[in-house]
Amino acid sequence: MSDRIYARIAGTGSYLPEKILTNDDLAQFVDTSDEWIQARTGIRQRHVAAEGETTCDLAYQASLRALEAAGVAASELDLIIVGTTTPDLIFPSTACLLQHRLGAEGCPAFDVNAACSGFVYALTVADKFVRSGAAKNVLVVGAETLTRMLDWNDRTTCVLFGDGAGAVVLKPDTETGILSTHLHADGGKKELLWNPVGVSVGFRPEEKNAGVRVLMAGSDVFKHAVKALDSVVDETLEANGLDRHDLDWLIPHQANLRIIDATAKRLEMPMERVIVTVDRHGNTSSGSVPLALDEAVRSGRVQRGQLLLLEAFGGGFTWGSALLRY
Ligand code: ACO
Repeated sequence: MSDRIYARIAGTGSYLPEKILTNDDLAQFVDTSDEWIQARTGIRQRHVAAEGETTCDLAYQASLRALEAAGVAASELDLIIVGTTTPDLIFPSTACLLQHRLGAEGCPAFDVNAACSGFVYALTVADKFVRSGAAKNVLVVGAETLTRMLDWNDRTTCVLFGDGAGAVVLKPDTETGILSTHLHADGGKKELLWNPVGVSVGFRPEEKNAGVRVLMAGSDVFKHAVKALDSVVDETLEANGLDRHDLDWLIPHQANLRIIDATAKRLEMPMERVIVTVDRHGNTSSGSVPLALDEAVRSGRVQRGQLLLLEAFGGGFTWGSALLRY
């Protein structure tokens, strides 16, 4: 037995708001069609948070399920990290709100904002805490209400996103767990995918297209995403001395089926070994990877002992991966 401590996923959970918005629903108020959206993105529908339902509400439900699956009580948590770019408030962090709601008072709690890579970033931080022995039971959440910052008249963005949350509980394990994580960012590309308002620049700067909404140069983002993901999956396999054929499952960020296809091809993985939820969830940003993971676990596809590659790409740009033995 080695002395090494791994962070192992002890339980997963997820939550989607009740309301579903189909492509046909969207086509009633914006100039688009089910055919276009499905052909370009693979999305058929997305979930939308109810009025008054917040990111913390979604995170709370996902967390309850993950804690139950892990057999861990909220009072046993040593750390809570929430990946989100749509926090309930500017402060306190959504993680602090969640900590109180769960009744886990006392443990550290903070948010990580890395747009759609938020969960992979949060998981990486949590992994370091567990590996170093600084924390034992860690709750890692990816939760978003992205639909709250969409311009519903902009067909180039409003058709892409949905709301949802996923969570995992990490515990130390001497045998196996997260094998490696790899994070990257390129702040120089910020204007290709951003929401250009905020506390310090002001919420209504005098510039074209300003407002609380996502702006994206879609085809540029697409090209950067495919390239960055190709590179990070190669980096991950190389760091672990593994061949692409060793992987059991690819659990990718769910932004666009064509991006997922491209990564699967790079890995020579048949789509039967790729978890796809984008058709039903749209892009839930930080929520997408843990939502897909939870669905794969609960449906019985992902089994203990299998090798999983998680990856994500988002605004920033940010991108990253996690290789783990489930
Ligand atoms: N319905 C109908 N037509 C549309 C729609 C729509 N919803 N949206 C755009 N179009 C039109 C455009 O106006 C354009 O028309 P034109 O040729 O007359 O000018 C045409 O369709 C093609 O537009 P493109 O933008 O070139 O289409 P593309 O094939 O690139 O698909 C998409 C667009 C789906 C946005 C794609 O580029 C994409 O998925 N990009 C990456 C998104 C992503 O990964 N984001 C990262 C994570 S998000 C985050 O971090 C918050």
